[in-house]
Amino acid sequence: SDLHAFLQALPKCEHHMHLEGALTPSVLFQLAAKNKIQLPSDDPAFTSPSTLAERYNQFTSLDDFLHYYYIGMSVLMDASDFEALAWDYFTHASADGVVHAEVFFDPQAHLSRDVSYDVVLAGFMAARSRANSEFGISSELICCFLRHLPAADGLATFKLDAVHASFSSGQVVGIGLDSSESPFPPELFKDIYDAAKASGLKRTAHAGEEGPAAYIKGALDDLDVSRIDHGIRLAEDPALVKRVAEQQILLSVCPISNVLLRCVSSVAELPIRMFLDQGVRFSINSDDPAYFGNNYLLANYCAVQDAFGLSKDEWSGICEAGINGSWCSEQRKEEML
Ligand code: HPA
Ligand code: ZN
Repeated sequence: SDLHAFLQALPKCEHHMHLEGALTPSVLFQLAAKNKIQLPSDDPAFTSPSTLAERYNQFTSLDDFLHYYYIGMSVLMDASDFEALAWDYFTHASADGVVHAEVFFDPQAHLSRDVSYDVVLAGFMAARSRANSEFGISSELICCFLRHLPAADGLATFKLDAVHASFSSGQVVGIGLDSSESPFPPELFKDIYDAAKASGLKRTAHAGEEGPAAYIKGALDDLDVSRIDHGIRLAEDPALVKRVAEQQILLSVCPISNVLLRCVSSVAELPIRMFLDQGVRFSINSDDPAYFGNNYLLANYCAVQDAFGLSKDEWSGICEAGINGSWCSEQRKEEML
């Protein structure tokens, strides 16, 4: 779009990006070979990186995507794999003009393969440190729990010594909830969120992506989150729209993800204009860029601009809300504003 250079130069924060979602088909095949991981032989999508990328263009739902997402991450074994994954993301983020990134990871999906939490964390911490020194990108880590697994499994993970240490040291700033949304309402995970609140952790949850607006309400009421990831189905409940605006809850919207996972048929269908008119705060995000056409953050900004033709002032306001809704220090916010 004609605002491309303007959008690139805006100081952008990203709040909804799964590091495991930065695994490109070519890196996936390289790591599978290095780590001697057998990829599924009964799915022709795994013939080559290009056949896999082609399959990624045809996701039919969140669960169809998640099937590939969990196979993909099975090639991640040692700390250098996790570091390379996160570094790949940060190089794209830097090119796109990202100044601050709060990124998710899914420890249960690694622990279940006997990859320790400390291995995952060491790789991500190394990449974050390098992104800060080489690109000036600040970042935070958000530990996500998988809602398709029993809540007891998530709570046991939360209580692991290594996990606790990452919280108390500040290496991990908060928790999230992701994976299959329906039929797993937020209240199932109340114990984890109560424990996180007691530990002073920030809290967010995926809600209202495929699931109903009632899941957004449940995340606010039962999990006491200060953010909602996706939240696009908020539009279905006008009273809840008012509440989210009043409580200054930040929605982390992922436009290209929503189209490719068929939550909406086009970016123009997203309630962006309604959010702006009703004072609902939101940021724009890439979700799982390597699975969604290699569309990193700037591509998502441009897709919103192409669909809605926002003004420069509106874009500046969106980025400002993103800075203010970030989980970094007040000093870092001042630097970015
Ligand atoms: N939704 C739910 N789970 C996920 C997503 C998502 O968009 N990306 C990675 N895990
Ligand atoms: Zn997500």
